[in-house]
Amino acid sequence: MKIFLDTADVAEIREYAASGLVDGVTTNPSLAAKTGRDYVESLKEICEVVPGAVSAEVLATDYDGMMKEAAVFTKIAKNIAVKVPLTWDGLKACAALSKQGTMVNVTLCFSPVQAMMAAKAGASFISPFIGRVDDIGEDGMGLIHDIRAIYDNYDFKTEILAASVRHVMHVRESALAGADVATIPTSVFKALLNHPLTDKGLAAFMADAKKGGVVIKG
Ligand code: G3P
Repeated sequence: MKIFLDTADVAEIREYAASGLVDGVTTNPSLAAKTGRDYVESLKEICEVVPGAVSAEVLATDYDGMMKEAAVFTKIAKNIAVKVPLTWDGLKACAALSKQGTMVNVTLCFSPVQAMMAAKAGASFISPFIGRVDDIGEDGMGLIHDIRAIYDNYDFKTEILAASVRHVMHVRESALAGADVATIPTSVFKALLNHPLTDKGLAAFMADAKKGGVVIKG
């Protein structure tokens, strides 16, 4: 499963991309606003830091406006994916952009049927928001399972990009459900390797090596 960082903070992305385990980045207007920086400038820097898709979300809600903003984004770098909302104008823009070879990430997906329509529109990625579905007492992970089943039934190539990921269990369950990507906040990324038995085991190895005088001589 590909791991994307869900942030527009370039410094954060640089820090964690150094692990070599960050495949891409997703941004959105809320994340861009948090940085206080020029959105396009931030995107230019982000595209240089990660090898994979960098999602840049349009602000326009009409087709013509989306296409104008997409033209700005696609000039930034080859790994830009234009992010559009799951609306009729968004899917119209998705179809036009995908036909011209632009990667498109369709966002704000909350139902399997929405995801099916995005795939029919040629989306490169679909972003179902797990956490926000959970927040209203519905089954966020069920959404991923249902989209996976529909995409497999019809051999849709759209990649399932699990979004609104709130904790490591969402990452685990998304991988088990067959999501292609999980986009995660840096707080969750940092927690991916955490396990108390790993920490305990390592401490025991070091203590035993020290006690037993084990050294590695080059
Ligand atoms: O990629 C979508 C993500 O940024 C939304 O997360 O926690 O606001 O639902 P959240």
